[in-house]
Order: sequence, then structure tokens, then C-alpha cells
Amino acid sequence: MHGEADTSPSDKRTLWFVTQNAHKYQEARRVLDPFGIKIRMLDYPKTEIQRTSLGEIAKFAAEEASKKHNRTVVVEDSGLFVRALKGFPGPFSSYVHVTIGVEGLLRLMRRQRRREAYFQASLALASPRNSCVEFAGKVNGTISHKSAGTKGFGFDPIFIPKGARRTFAQGGTEFKDKYSHRAIAFRKLALWYIRTKPETNSQV
Ligand code: IMP
Repeated sequence: MHGEADTSPSDKRTLWFVTQNAHKYQEARRVLDPFGIKIRMLDYPKTEIQRTSLGEIAKFAAEEASKKHNRTVVVEDSGLFVRALKGFPGPFSSYVHVTIGVEGLLRLMRRQRRREAYFQASLALASPRNSCVEFAGKVNGTISHKSAGTKGFGFDPIFIPKGARRTFAQGGTEFKDKYSHRAIAFRKLALWYIRTKPETNSQV
């Protein structure tokens, strides 16, 4: 795959994204590529502490993983916050997706006329020696009345970003990169990363 062959696993200048979600990884990669930042997937289960703050969850996991693997890592924690459900599922989005799923969430929303929601992503960049740096991204939108589209993952089939008429799952990659919470957060990370001279930052 493009970008994979030119870094060895021991290359400390490579940014390792600790995730088991290939969709998240590909999204991050598409955003970082134009900045010339190499990213690779560290397919390893991140530790998820029980917190309501996505930032705290990401930070804990990133600090732990950077020490364990002795390299610079980035961890992302994200969730869908639905206003009519008082922010549910929020930090529990992953669990809710595998249990009641998209259709279950639509059922909870059946009688709701207020359909505002947002996705949030928190990124934590950690290295064994330096303190953790955090970035966040948010996209406002609405929950659709029915599931639409087959692209993407998670709640993509029911989320319509503000200013658009399609769900993330109908729009596909370019559409997702234009609006997504993850793309916003990774662009912030990229701007910070290139400012801090990555050629010398084996510790970031
Ligand atoms: P976690 O960050 O691994 O805890 O997972 C967050 C969960 O939120 C995912 O499993 C999805 O269900 C949902 N989620 C987060 N970001 C997205 C997205 O970009 N599209 C669709 N669902 C998402």
C-alpha cells in the first residue's frame, strides 16, 4: 500500500496510529498525506478507561501505548452526541453501535422532531519522554429519519453534516474528509506537527 513500504517498524519519525479500525486509519492517512506526514497503523487494542471526556480517554490510552511500544503514537477517541438524547451515546458510541446499532438509535429517535447531533473526535499524541499533546474536531449535523448509504462505518448511514443533504455513508471519502470531526482534528495535528520540525522529533 502507498506509504507503507518506506518506513520500517523501528522508524521513530513515523507516527503510529493505535487503532483497530481501518476506516479511521484510512481517514487519518488521507488527511495527513498532503502534509507529507507518514502514518502507520498500530493494530493493537487501546485501553479505554471509563470517563465521559473523550480527551481523557484518548490521553490515557496514548500515554500508556507510547510507553509500552516505546514510540510516538496517536490515539483517537470519538463519539456521536445526540441532543434529544442528552448527548447519548457520546463516549459509549462504540458499545451502542455493536449492541443496538444504527437501527436501535433510529428507534430511540422515532418520535423526536429535534434531530441535532454532533460527532466529536479527540486525538492524543504521546511519546515516551514528552508530555501529551491533544487536538479535537467537531462536526454538527442531524440524525436522518432512516439509514442511507453504504460507505464508511459506524453511524455514518444516519448522520447528515450541517450544510449537506446526504449522510456520511452516501457521500463517500471526499465528502467525509470535507466535513468530518476526525479530518478536522487530524488537520490540526498536522499543522502542529509540521511546525515542530518532525525531522528531529524522535520524541515529538
Ligand atoms: P471509539 O473511538 O473506538 O470509542 O469508537 C467510537 C464510535 O463512535 C465508533 O465505533 C462509531 O460507532 C462512532 N463513530 C465515531 N466516529 C465515527 C464516524 O466518523 N462515523 C461513524 N461513526 C463514528
